[in-house]
Amino acid sequence: MTKPIWIKHAAQLATLASEVKGPRSKGKMSELGLIEDGSVWIEDGMIQAVGTTKELEERFADKVYEAEIVDASNHLVTPGLVDPHTHVVYGGSREREFEMRLEGASYMDIMNAGGGIHATTRMTREATEEELIDQTKRRLDSFFSHGVTTIEGKSGYGMNLETELKQLRVMKKLQEQHAIDIVPTFMGAHAIPPDFKGREDDFVNHLIDEMLPVVAEEKLAEFNDVFCEKGVYTPEQSERILEAGKRFGLMPKIHADEIEPYGGAELAAKVGAISAEHLLKASAEGIKAMAESGTIACLLPATALYLREEAAAGRRMVDEGVSVAISTDCNPGSSPTTSMPLVMNLACISMRLTPAEALTAATYNAACAINRQERVGSLEVGKQADMVMWNVKNYQELQYLFGVNHVKSVWKKGVKVV
Ligand code: NIG
Ligand code: FE
Repeated sequence: MTKPIWIKHAAQLATLASEVKGPRSKGKMSELGLIEDGSVWIEDGMIQAVGTTKELEERFADKVYEAEIVDASNHLVTPGLVDPHTHVVYGGSREREFEMRLEGASYMDIMNAGGGIHATTRMTREATEEELIDQTKRRLDSFFSHGVTTIEGKSGYGMNLETELKQLRVMKKLQEQHAIDIVPTFMGAHAIPPDFKGREDDFVNHLIDEMLPVVAEEKLAEFNDVFCEKGVYTPEQSERILEAGKRFGLMPKIHADEIEPYGGAELAAKVGAISAEHLLKASAEGIKAMAESGTIACLLPATALYLREEAAAGRRMVDEGVSVAISTDCNPGSSPTTSMPLVMNLACISMRLTPAEALTAATYNAACAINRQERVGSLEVGKQADMVMWNVKNYQELQYLFGVNHVKSVWKKGVKVV
């Protein structure tokens, strides 16, 4: 038995606790369950009690002497941040493309010329499993140092069975070697592999008949994602892939309406996707359909900034009743960052979410977007003790002092990792 941990005297404890279960929208995104002079009691990696310091002092009076005490005076304490959309396992890097884009090339031009996703696919195919593990571990450490304790991770830099499986197995191995939680997504439909150019439907058939069954059989993924975009997968092809994934028990996600309006948000609602990603160019009908179907909008304002595009209509989506989550999109092309704090700042600055909404989007709603809301995303009894102590006093200050890493300490399942 490890020592209990008692975090006490938090200037502000944002528990994100709520009676309402499931993704939050509208005014519910502003309810942070704040406790002043807050306190959390942790045993065996789980949260045993949450309340004011006075309440927990009374309740655990006879156990205090055996606990490790953390004084959180003057600090904000929140749940560990959740990043619900990453492409964290990849080989190589693409800094030259960054320069090319600044010189005027577009993201899609580079991809269509064999760079972009194709370049990373080549480098990921060439990398050994050990090399990928080693490179990814460094990114996972960086997530921890930015207060992120759970991430989703996608395959998609293989686009052949062998390398897709390699990426997914790397995630599985990293679960044993690293304390962060990784929730795996299969994204074989991330681009059209060059050898299938002009025979896109053949690749869709191959993915459905040859790849999905193996991924499902080996239980390597929980979600199935597709890049539904002009010049990549059409809404019809995307629907076939996502419906096939459902038959194998994989929940649908969609990279939707990132570059052009293409019916992706509408499709997400139609197939009952747990989330739709990007949505920079989502139509008014698509947004309405998502609010009605309860599909979470997973918005990626760092990607928009990095591609120098206008961010998604986050404010409007919240107002229209869509549950919004936010994410880094951590990948070597359109968003090479692990900083969820920066993404929260940008959610406020470029999408006009309020500081409270941005925190909900990066914790509880983010957990919902990867079906982990029973375990993480809020500080409630019976949940994992994934927590962050910040070098600020309240949640407004966290979003206001931007571009700075305010993390002081991070606990993953009750173990201090930063
Ligand atoms: O979510 N849009 C497609 N996929 C990734 C980018 C991947 C890459 O450029 O390597 C995204 O932005
Ligand atoms: Fe992505």
